[in-house]
Amino acid sequence: MGAPRHDGVERSPRDRGAPRDESGPAGTGEFRTAAVRRSPALRGRGDAWSLDGRLALVTGAGRGLGRGAALALAAAGAEVVCVARSGAELAAVAERIRADGGVAHVHAADVTDEAQVLGMVGRAEALGDLRVAVTAAGTNRPGPARDYSLADWDALFDVNVRATFLTCRAVGDALLRRGAAGSIVTLSSQMGSVGYPGRVAYCATKHAVEGLTKALAVEWARDGVRVNAVAPTFVETPLTRTFLDDPAFRAEVLDRRLPSGRLATVDEVAHAIRYLACDAAASTTGHVLKVDGGWTAW
Ligand SMILES: NC(=O)c1ccc[n+]([C@@H]2O[C@H](COP(=O)([O-])OP(=O)(O)OC[C@H]3O[C@@H](n4cnc5c(N)ncnc54)[C@H](OP(=O)(O)O)[C@@H]3O)[C@@H](O)[C@H]2O)c1
Repeated sequence: MGAPRHDGVERSPRDRGAPRDESGPAGTGEFRTAAVRRSPALRGRGDAWSLDGRLALVTGAGRGLGRGAALALAAAGAEVVCVARSGAELAAVAERIRADGGVAHVHAADVTDEAQVLGMVGRAEALGDLRVAVTAAGTNRPGPARDYSLADWDALFDVNVRATFLTCRAVGDALLRRGAAGSIVTLSSQMGSVGYPGRVAYCATKHAVEGLTKALAVEWARDGVRVNAVAPTFVETPLTRTFLDDPAFRAEVLDRRLPSGRLATVDEVAHAIRYLACDAAASTTGHVLKVDGGWTAW
């Protein structure tokens, strides 16, 4: 076994002072802005919570939890590449990051498609010091197991598992090729630990996400590439709005199931993602960080 390579910010060509292209994407000047935001001598050092000088790739960044993660990572100083299929939603998120003084890029891609995932990661590598990835692209189609269509089963596995694996593998490969330390955060759910009626495929995919997260974590730990999951309870997003708008379902969740008696928020999930992304969590890998109001403790 080789020596552990996680030596913080030292390994990137940028941090070693190698020449770099500061021109940024045509005409935007964004990359230069990020480069001068802090002194290269200080960038990323001394503040384990900072992502200054690092580039973060966020899939599913157009709305919901991915959007929250993109905003939180940008607030921590990362340059963010926002990925989803809908360019209009991504443009709005990127605009919001820029309005807050951050640096954001938009990349439209279907992350179930390997060629598009490789293109997405290649673009991120070309834009900056890729060190962080969040795989928040995901979906759900509830339904009773006896009637559950195989088309829905396959659709959930395509986005929640296949796309998560493809993204993790491509980002991990990019980091390992450079010998760069990095952090990948996947999106599980409380349903990665427990079952729930009407959620057979969703529970299966989230258990799979936790499995692949742990397997990648142990495979890449010696190389300083950390892989962790965040497992939230229900959060109000476009994905869950239809279930949570049902008063009976909402009451069941809030009054009978959730010890906290309230939904988690997008920001609470984003804070957990930010923690796992930065050096404050440097010894944390293969972990599933629950943001579930106690759901799985009961
Ligand atoms: N909300 C919750 O209560 C909750 C709780 C626990 C876990 N989670 C998990 O958190 C993740 C995000 O959930 P959310 O509530 O934020 O969902 P959401 O509001 O529906 O957002 C999902 C995002 O993923 C993108 N996406 C979906 N399929 C994609 C594909 N094939 N390629 C690229 N992008 C794709 C969507 O954009 P496009 O459609 O434009 O591509 C969108 O930006 C999911 O994995 C979900 O299971 C959510």
